[in-house]
Amino acid sequence: MTHGHAHGVGTTDPVIVLNGVHVALSDARISVLDRGFLFGDAVFEVLRVYGRAPFALDEHLARLGRSLEGFRIEPSFPMAELRREVHEAIQLLAHDDAYVRVMVSRGEGALHLDPRRARGPTTRVVIAAPLLALPADLYDGVSIATVRAERSTDHTRAAGAKTAAYVANLLALQVAQERGAYEAAFTASDGSISEGHSSNLFVVRGGEVLTPPLSSGILGGITRALVIEAARDEGVTLRERLLFVSDFERADEAFLTSSLREVVPITAIDGVRIGDGQPGPVTRRLHARYAQRVRAR
Ligand code: PDD
Repeated sequence: MTHGHAHGVGTTDPVIVLNGVHVALSDARISVLDRGFLFGDAVFEVLRVYGRAPFALDEHLARLGRSLEGFRIEPSFPMAELRREVHEAIQLLAHDDAYVRVMVSRGEGALHLDPRRARGPTTRVVIAAPLLALPADLYDGVSIATVRAERSTDHTRAAGAKTAAYVANLLALQVAQERGAYEAAFTASDGSISEGHSSNLFVVRGGEVLTPPLSSGILGGITRALVIEAARDEGVTLRERLLFVSDFERADEAFLTSSLREVVPITAIDGVRIGDGQPGPVTRRLHARYAQRVRAR
């Protein structure tokens, strides 16, 4: 089988490595009895590829291991094998800037929720695809909407795991979109804001950066961790605490972070403009410092 490996032009089929084997997209099938399909009993990672190099692969695989642990899913393969498969998928895709998704489910089993009924090996899928075009004006700033919602892993021993069952995130995104916003901000019953539906959140006020702590049940974003280091490198004070809408409304700047989008300025929350409604200087400095770290790797 051939892939349209036209370098960098046109659309290219995603490259699939299924349980260690490169298969054509049309042959990339899993059982309807796979627990990832039946119950969302699976975890995943998404990482960005710059110039055919997977960025922060070690951090992503380490987090995948923690997510598996949170679900008590025993991988039936060595994690180092995933590293090889990610590199193989990237090489086969032959696109400089790409997106890689790694998914691991508990595997196939009986039509029963009981995880002990899972039999046989875990299912693993590595997908490499050209990076989806980001909105051209993304870095001019986006709006977020507070959505009252919990993550499916909140207050569980899998808190912070990147579960494939992204139903809470999907529903929150739908509500945010209906309000004309770009990203949903998970908001708890006490009004505290923890993270975006697919990002971590930061505000800047009086030169100080604030971002919610991991204890709030958020995903320990890899971009978030590197931006925290970037703030230290830049000599910018950063404190971790829960955020409220008032923190955003009083902020000089705000931004979100994620592997695929790096650092995106936030210029409005629930229709209220943040700062002067323009990307702020600290946001730009931290993004530049982050980009430097990407190049340095
Ligand atoms: N989002 N929080 C949530 C709920 C996420 O889904 C993501 C990633 C993040 C950012 O984590 P990191 O910096 O490790 O990518 C935080 C998707 C996969 C993305 O847009 O990358």
